[in-house]
Amino acid sequence: MQAGSQTGITGINDVVSIERQGPIALVGLNNPPVNAASHAVRSGIWKAIETLQDDPDVKVIALYGEGRTFIAGADIREFGKPPKDPWLPDLCNFIEDSKTPVVCVLHGTTLGGGLEVALASHVRVALSGTRVGLPEVTLGILPGAGGTQRAPRLAGIRASLDLITSGKPILAETALEHGLVDRIDAGDPRDVAIAAAGDFLEGKLVARRTCDLPVEDDANAISSMRAKLAKTQPLLFSPHKCVDAVEASRLPRDEGLKEERRLFNECMDSPQRAGLIHAFFAERAVAKVPEATATPRDVRKIGVIGGGTMGSGIATAALLADFDVTMTERDQAGLDRGKATITSNLDGAVKRGKLTGEARETILSQKLSTATELDALGDADLIIEAVFEDMGVKREIFETLDKVAKPGAVLASNTSYLDVNEIAAATSRPHDVVGLHFFSPAHIMRLMEVVVADKTGADAVATGFALAKKLKKIAVRSGVCDGFIGNRIMTFYKKAADYMMMDGASPEEIDKAVTGFGFAMGPYQVADLAGLDISWAANKRRAATRPAEERYIPIADEICEKGWFGRKTGQGFYIYDADGTRANPEALAIIDAERTKAGVTPRAFSEDEIVSRFVTAMILEATRVLEEGIALRPVDIDAVFLFGYGFPRFRGGPMHTADQIGAAELVRRIETYAQEDSFYWQVPVLLRKLAEGGGTFAAMNER
Ligand code: 3HC
Ligand code: NAI
Repeated sequence: MQAGSQTGITGINDVVSIERQGPIALVGLNNPPVNAASHAVRSGIWKAIETLQDDPDVKVIALYGEGRTFIAGADIREFGKPPKDPWLPDLCNFIEDSKTPVVCVLHGTTLGGGLEVALASHVRVALSGTRVGLPEVTLGILPGAGGTQRAPRLAGIRASLDLITSGKPILAETALEHGLVDRIDAGDPRDVAIAAAGDFLEGKLVARRTCDLPVEDDANAISSMRAKLAKTQPLLFSPHKCVDAVEASRLPRDEGLKEERRLFNECMDSPQRAGLIHAFFAERAVAKVPEATATPRDVRKIGVIGGGTMGSGIATAALLADFDVTMTERDQAGLDRGKATITSNLDGAVKRGKLTGEARETILSQKLSTATELDALGDADLIIEAVFEDMGVKREIFETLDKVAKPGAVLASNTSYLDVNEIAAATSRPHDVVGLHFFSPAHIMRLMEVVVADKTGADAVATGFALAKKLKKIAVRSGVCDGFIGNRIMTFYKKAADYMMMDGASPEEIDKAVTGFGFAMGPYQVADLAGLDISWAANKRRAATRPAEERYIPIADEICEKGWFGRKTGQGFYIYDADGTRANPEALAIIDAERTKAGVTPRAFSEDEIVSRFVTAMILEATRVLEEGIALRPVDIDAVFLFGYGFPRFRGGPMHTADQIGAAELVRRIETYAQEDSFYWQVPVLLRKLAEGGGTFAAMNER
């Protein structure tokens, strides 16, 4: 290729520039961190193409992104605000209709509107390892800039449906197989843009207008996806609209695009869109804590005390993230059990394709060591205690750690409920002590509460957050109270469920209503899975301090008295055996007997009433957690429930839901329920203030 005479860089605006290389015009985007297609990016590209396509010396335009990625999608922060011209769909059409061919270079995470810009270009070259995808469905919308119309023209209807309804990114190498990209290259995006444009000029890459390509009809793929989604996503709105939009790709371009726009707007107006986008930002907002400016301590070696359910899960998570781990137990038998669980967890990871067989061997032979004495943890940078939930046992362990741990080691407890201040007081270094509350199974669940005690050092907190990032978990900061953010609120709303059970609803009815709302599991399914013995022990611990006015429901305790602890013993509220899962008639008999003893005449509960009481109770206690400063912001509570308690993501979390219901309505409900039980149902001061002043929890996130 001959370089022409024209060179030089012209800035179109702050984020888009043109660089001339003879007949090649490079259009570079620089809108950190992810080159989101903000108004400036859209108008900059438009202006660049408008100028360049009328320049007779320009034979090809090459579009690429600076930094870590090509466009990662529309700018989500602009959603819900008045749209500003040019819109992304119009820009994509403008690119496709450009008189001068446009070559697009994909790198990093070319997602959503970024991939749509690429699909509208005439040639697509991706850097090796690029991830491409249309994740709009995860935000409650659908690809609204032509993605549902252009992807089927390149990849066919079946592959496009998979891409669009799953929202999962694929590797550029797979995208090449599907025809979504034309070539894979390696190197710097700008260099690749120059090389690809040169190859186009030499006829080695061919330009096509995507919308001129025919769509091969595939009615089977459409009907089978509809049937699948009806079964797997009955509560969600946008996946079904995605299928409708892809189906419209059988129409001519402009008609199909019009239908895509209509469906996109329906999704934009749906409350699920607001909930899912709130969840997206919640995941990121929780990292913004006062301690985020402190420097995390260096962690390479992790000690885990206890090889039970949690210890072995935590050790697995750390090993999968490439840490060296030493696990201790009381005796060799405990270590053998713990190691067997870790091995089986790693085998699961190999089966799911998350780990190679070779890496599994290395982990077990070189990264994991075990010991029966705490002295073995002398060189650990971070030690996580996961032994029985007993203050005496924990204090004893922390007293020993104080002697054996190296100076500067972070000493963490995985306690579910206990006072981290008291645990810290067992050491002479409370600034090193923090709660790191994992959720079961610890190598799978994404949530980790970082519990900050009175004397915990900011750098110990920052270390907890840095660890979570390495483990690919979401850390949420919590203050100290019985159960921290999550378990404290759960303990409270579980009582609302128990009151309904006592007053006439069966555990099955309650679970059905709660899962119908979108929770992954109902409260009795959760109780059986977690082990009824755990709450039994907590009930005994709290018995001495339980207020006399509190209505206490002893049904679960009575089930435990029989030795039935839920799934692990084959029965609890439900029976679990070879015939499947079903209500336990003997548990129902215990419920009946308790009602009779208490003189309760059972009444019917509708699904709506069950959900209303359950969710209102959750919001009530969550508001207190906020008032007391245990959670920093409402969004922290939302994240805890979204990522640790199976709260339906499309509802955005309990505080986001509270805003949807409205504070005034919540106060009205609490006051109505209080007519039966004025001790349990008390309106928190903050909620009343919001109701009276018309305020929202969302506004408290913005402070
Ligand atoms: N719009 C606005 N901000 C975005 C954004 C977007 N599309 N994507 C990421 N960001 C922001 C994040 O909020 C974060 O901001 P913060 O630092 O202030 O918290 C920052 O960019 C960095 O993001 P991450 O921390 O997530 O960075 P990672 O490197 O871990 O991940 C990513 C990068 C894979 C691009 C990830 O951010 C992501 O998945 N983003 C969303 C992608 C997406 O959903 N695109 C589709 C948008 S909808 C659309 O295109 C509609 C169209 O069809 C019309
Ligand atoms: P578990 O009973 O399965 O395991 C505890 C293990 O600790 C046992 O294997 C025991 O042998 C070992 N152990 C006891 N004393 C020890 C000592 N001095 N040194 C070394 N090992 C010792 O209990 P689980 O469920 O793993 O719980 C552990 C901790 O994690 C508890 O504090 C619990 O509240 C908390 N937790 C539990 C969750 C769950 O879902 N099970 C979730 C989150 C936290």
